[in-house]
Amino acid sequence: MITTCAPAQYERLKSLGADHCFDYHLSQTGDQIRRLTENRLRFAWDTIANENSARMCADALSTDPGARYGTTNPMKSPRADVESTAVVMYTMMGEAFKYGTTNYPACRDDFEFAKRFMTLTESLLDLVRAIWAPNELVSLMSI
Ligand SMILES: NC(=O)c1ccc[n+]([C@@H]2O[C@H](COP(=O)([O-])OP(=O)(O)OC[C@H]3O[C@@H](n4cnc5c(N)ncnc54)[C@H](OP(=O)(O)O)[C@@H]3O)[C@@H](O)[C@H]2O)c1
Repeated sequence: MITTCAPAQYERLKSLGADHCFDYHLSQTGDQIRRLTENRLRFAWDTIANENSARMCADALSTDPGARYGTTNPMKSPRADVESTAVVMYTMMGEAFKYGTTNYPACRDDFEFAKRFMTLTESLLDLVRAIWAPNELVSLMSI
């Protein structure tokens, strides 16, 4: 697992499971991640969701077919060959809300899915911790 953060956070993120940390302030970070992963990184999850973080993910993701970019704002990867997905988490609450200028109605399906997903995720994380070597490179980046 590869993550970007400020250098002051490296040790904390490694204690939480990151194998590699990169400084998001540096413009070459995306390129460095692509070199580290030998152009094999297929998934990027961007929780910052601005122009810079989207560019960093685009620079890091593999140029082979099948790279995917997920983010928390309604935006797309600057790379046309990368599939983009945006997720608004609040629909998991099952209640109507306003985010930015958009009104979202209550969504029962998302609420039910969130309950199943949380349970599934906890089991999967336990499994991942049990079977993966600490320094094994996983094609997942959280920015
Ligand atoms: N989809 C949803 O449901 C949802 C919900 C909430 C928020 N959002 C969106 O999520 C984004 C982040 O919101 P937030 O409230 O978490 O922001 P925030 O409170 O402003 O947190 C951003 C922090 O992340 C660090 N950072 C900035 N760029 C980074 C990068 N490229 N890599 C790693 N760390 C970086 C900085 O920490 P340091 O100061 O330590 O460097 C910064 O203070 C926003 O675009 C917001 O609109 C979406």
